Amino acid sequence: MTVTNASTGTNVHEIADGIYRINTPVALPDGGGFSFNQYLVIDDEPLLFHTGPRRMFPLVHEAVASVLPVARLRHVAFSHVESDECGSLNEWLAAAPRAAPLCGQVAAMVSIGDLADRPPRALADGEVIPLGRHSLRWFDTPHLPHAWECGFLLEERTATLLCGDLFTQPGAEHAPLTEGDILGPSEAFRRQLDYFSHTKHVRTMIEKLAATQPRVLACMHGSAWQGDGGRLLRALGESLAA
Ligand SMILES: [Fe+2]
Ligand SMILES: [Fe+2]
Repeated sequence: MTVTNASTGTNVHEIADGIYRINTPVALPDGGGFSFNQYLVIDDEPLLFHTGPRRMFPLVHEAVASVLPVARLRHVAFSHVESDECGSLNEWLAAAPRAAPLCGQVAAMVSIGDLADRPPRALADGEVIPLGRHSLRWFDTPHLPHAWECGFLLEERTATLLCGDLFTQPGAEHAPLTEGDILGPSEAFRRQLDYFSHTKHVRTMIEKLAATQPRVLACMHGSAWQGDGGRLLRALGESLAA
């Protein structure tokens, strides 16, 4: 793990071949903590999944620059439209002149076609975008865990599911990659903060993700996780239905 900013503790760690987790721990006013992760896929067409909040842009920029020249980025991808997912999208587009936003069709239609300084590339459900060695498949997951435009990307070569807000873990300090329990802490957190939408279609969408049999779940808040991702996703589905 490389610390790229000594004052905030922002750090970078390779969690799968060519996939880097960028993590910034944050202290909350109530004494608790939280964390924001972005994932950088190094390839012929480098991709950043999630920008981090707009005010965190200098930290994430510094972390990306520790791995590759920022101007090389070609895709700035995200799950849904919230500040931690895409708040600094336009800052990234300015810093990387050949990059375009990458998102689902609903996000493109409803928000990004207007909000972003360059037109997005909009992916259909199941569509694959090759980056070189890696390739990413987009899955629409409307309202799972929240936002109509929500979706996730699976990196197929490493079976890494960029799973956004699923398995959100509270706290600031986390191992970059764990095989330990992330479902328990994330479900405890959900009971305090009801960030799932209560969509009736959870089972179908969880099964669609589980069927890809991910080996790494690249969470946006907390540790990334390694193991039988299909099984853990189905366990989440059970817990959400209970
Ligand atoms: Fe979110
Ligand atoms: Fe998030």
